[in-house]
Amino acid sequence: MIDRSNPRIPAVDVDSQFTDRWSPRAFAETPLTDAQLATLFEAVRWAPSCYNEQPWLFLYAVTAEDRVRFAEALVPANRVWAPRAPLLLFVLCRRRFRHNDQENRHAPFDAGAAWLALALQARKLGLHAHAMAGFSRQKAFEILGVPEEDYDIMAAVAVGYRGDKEILPEDVAAREQPNDRKPPREVAREGRF
Ligand SMILES: Cc1cc2nc3c(=O)[nH]c(=O)nc-3n(C[C@H](O)[C@H](O)[C@H](O)COP(=O)(O)O)c2cc1C
Repeated sequence: MIDRSNPRIPAVDVDSQFTDRWSPRAFAETPLTDAQLATLFEAVRWAPSCYNEQPWLFLYAVTAEDRVRFAEALVPANRVWAPRAPLLLFVLCRRRFRHNDQENRHAPFDAGAAWLALALQARKLGLHAHAMAGFSRQKAFEILGVPEEDYDIMAAVAVGYRGDKEILPEDVAAREQPNDRKPPREVAREGRF
């Protein structure tokens, strides 16, 4: 479903999936189907990773009880809007490679690729995904029962259909639109730094 209200204008021709992905805060409470959940996590499964380690682990909540528990780790500014989303999740990454037990310095990079796969697949399903760094890591380790020596927690994500922005506090509603980007010259350089 293409969002016709999207004001983004790419600098050059690019596939619209990149400009159609954005991070709303107004979510409808419409639950996701099991098939949608399976498709989202299938997209994650095919993300690339160093040594094909697939270091990510997505811990998710769909029941009211689990969503309340997950939301406890969010900072208040995110708790204002994120708990309405029918799917809340935390993106974890395994700290060490399985094949040699050495530190996997690239695990956060790979978890980032996996989250983007989910976000782009979400748009193909007519959904939106909104990542959040605004959460207490300590609280998240506790409430999710994550073994901290093996995994780090990189981000929280809310996923769902867009809701009416009137449900948001006024200041949050005022920001409820796709934002812009740096100019192309600030993104890539040829040759040297
Ligand atoms: C790792 C990460 C952490 C983020 N943390 C938050 C957050 O805590 N709260 C929030 O409202 N948005 C958060 N965002 C959303 C960003 O602000 C948003 O992605 C950025 O402004 C670009 O906008 P767009 O996603 O709509 O294209 C985060 C995004 C990422 C990727």
